[in-house]
Amino acid sequence: MIVLGIETTCDETAAAVVVDGSTILSNVVSSQVEIHRKFGGVYPELASRNHVEMFPCVLKEAIEIAGISWKEIDLISVAKGPGLIGPLMVGLNGAKALSISLEKPFVGVNHVEAHLYAAMMTGEPKKFPALGIVLSGGHTFLIKIYDLFHYELIGSTVDDAIGEAFDKVAKLLDLPYPGGPEIEKIAKEGNCPPFKAGNVKTNQYSFSFSGLKTNIFYKIYGQNGTKQGPCPLSFEEKQAVAFAFQEAAFTDVISKAQLAVKQFECRSIYIGGGVSNNRRLRELFRLKMPNLPLFFPPFSLTLDNAAMIAGLGFHVYLQKGADFLDLEPQTRIPL
Ligand code: KG4
Ligand code: ZN
Repeated sequence: MIVLGIETTCDETAAAVVVDGSTILSNVVSSQVEIHRKFGGVYPELASRNHVEMFPCVLKEAIEIAGISWKEIDLISVAKGPGLIGPLMVGLNGAKALSISLEKPFVGVNHVEAHLYAAMMTGEPKKFPALGIVLSGGHTFLIKIYDLFHYELIGSTVDDAIGEAFDKVAKLLDLPYPGGPEIEKIAKEGNCPPFKAGNVKTNQYSFSFSGLKTNIFYKIYGQNGTKQGPCPLSFEEKQAVAFAFQEAAFTDVISKAQLAVKQFECRSIYIGGGVSNNRRLRELFRLKMPNLPLFFPPFSLTLDNAAMIAGLGFHVYLQKGADFLDLEPQTRIPL
């Protein structure tokens, strides 16, 4: 089954062609990072407009690279949420229009679930029950995976998502948006005391990153500081703070994952979302959990992309059938 995937939940316009849920024929991503960088974060209205502009050419390129004709598409799979309402509407309405004109079915899939599915696209046999970990700009989840479509939420963040914390700490260090890759780039062990992420009393698997971010603020700007001027640290000091923050955030995720694996008797771990792009995260996981099969997406599938949407859409269609034209975008979707 040839599936055309469409992703427009945030600031990437993406289209991909994937066969039978795993063979990627094309995976085109047009990033708006340059547009949003001067605002230090995603500017929703500009994101919507840019999706409208880029959508036709991204689609066309995905079809051309895949070497197929429009008529060969069997199914259209689109991210229906969670995400920004304007961007979501562009992708969903585009998918509906294609479904009508090509006379092919379409399905809407959950973007967060697709991030996890990206770690399953390696083709290796799946080992369930598994622990699923989503680490992205908008979400931080620990999930028990019994099977595809059969999940149980174990923990999530009570304040900032982990990627959001990376972006905010990067801002404190005067690093450009998006901050995650910039923190990874400069992080270097140095003269900075270790930090610790928060624990949540009501659930040992929940996350809290806002206290960690505030402690880093105090470390840089002092207890009574305000961020008005540029970051006062030298480059070496910034490197050390970036390293200490990264270690604290990842140690927290890994220690909660270790607990969950033990309690829920998980046979493997699937990790997805933009932060799973980080090489230090992968290294720490492998160091601390050497005996458990760990599945990360290939680097091309960690950030927002449409191949994961097409891949998951194949299974959603087989399991639940097509969606109807009255499907609405969902800015929030409970897992
Ligand atoms: O999954 P994603 O592309 O979009 C959402 O669904 O949110 O994740 C984007 C997030 C951003 O916060 C970005 O800073 C973070 O992933 N990120 C990273 C790295 N690459 C992207 N964080 C840490 N290290 C990285 N190498
Ligand atoms: Zn995402």
